[in-house]
Amino acid sequence: MSAEPVPAESASAERKDDHVRLAAAQYERSPADEPFADVSFVHHALAGIDEDLVDLSVQVLGARWSSPLYINAMTGGTAETGRINRALAIAARETSVALASGSVSIALDDPSVAGTFRVLREENPDGFVLANVGIERSADDARRAVDLLGADALQVHVNAVQETVMPEGRRAFSSWQRSLAAIVASAEVPVVVKEVGFGLSPETLTLIADLGVTGADVAGRGGTDFVRVENARRAAHDYDYLIGWGQSAVACLLEAPERSPQLLASGGVRTPLDVARALALGARAVGVSGTFLRVVLDGGPDALVTRIRQWQEHLRALCALLGAPEPAALARADVIVRGATAEYCRARGVNLAPLAHRSAAVPTDHGGAHGQIHAERSRHDR
Ligand code: FNR
Repeated sequence: MSAEPVPAESASAERKDDHVRLAAAQYERSPADEPFADVSFVHHALAGIDEDLVDLSVQVLGARWSSPLYINAMTGGTAETGRINRALAIAARETSVALASGSVSIALDDPSVAGTFRVLREENPDGFVLANVGIERSADDARRAVDLLGADALQVHVNAVQETVMPEGRRAFSSWQRSLAAIVASAEVPVVVKEVGFGLSPETLTLIADLGVTGADVAGRGGTDFVRVENARRAAHDYDYLIGWGQSAVACLLEAPERSPQLLASGGVRTPLDVARALALGARAVGVSGTFLRVVLDGGPDALVTRIRQWQEHLRALCALLGAPEPAALARADVIVRGATAEYCRARGVNLAPLAHRSAAVPTDHGGAHGQIHAERSRHDR
């Protein structure tokens, strides 16, 4: 991988390298709980279908993705993160998964590092690429970020918790809704609002749906924890009590309102089973950052290509096992929700019982109560 010419490290550039180093080092540490482990599928021994019948493609943000998986926003802005972006772009190209850039803000402020982002498109000319900016950026900046990458969609990240703990964080949140409205009004590509690991509540999902946002990546707690990352960058490490803040992706999906933008899920996705779990709870596609970052740092683009192909194969196998001819059909699978997630749902008034009996409600090709499950059209076709 050739190094991009980048200028002497600025404070922002140093932060980008810190994030990668700390996120990768911390990712294997157990979170306070494992939210995806609270979700299990009810096993129906005769419900499976032929693997050949499974079509993993999904309709997302006005495009057809060949699998319901994407590499989520991470990095760019320094020589090292430019190399990581090149590796991520090669892996996205070879596996045809969608790819989100890290926040492009640093390149908007310092065009000399733009190449460390542009590589995402150069190595992946035909892929689905999402540009990423912070919610406080102007509509003009958001358009420049999309133009820089020739992006197919724009992620706008909301990271109030991170700004709270970040030593150099900007705790000026009052203008955020106005700023988002301006970005959405002038964007020429679909806009996705995403958290960075603390979840999107139903109240937030309703608010952004009303603003005309196309997609919402709930990016929940349970994987990369930016409280932990930013706290490690503080001399006094004094925000450690906030570690574990927020809602998991699982909890967010379970209480997402009907009037949500298209739902995407991420945060703590470690296995293909986690992907299937998120799809079963209504996500159209599932994003992965920390897990794939570790793979790329350890083994470069080839290791990530191998890992993503393995996940795609496993996901097809899990769909066949669960009788789902397409990812959206997993939203008719019977699931049980336990543990801290069930407790959260009880406190929030979310009724989990119907989830455990969804397949019985659908007529089946072979007459039984638990045959091939069918797509829940209502949410996914919106
Ligand atoms: C991130 N994430 C992130 N998100 C975002 O919207 N813009 C960004 O610039 C970054 N930067 C970033 C750097 C690094 C090193 C990591 C690991 C992550 C957050 C990311 O997209 C995701 O929301 C969270 O990491 C949760 O997912 P995982 O890591 O648990 O899969």
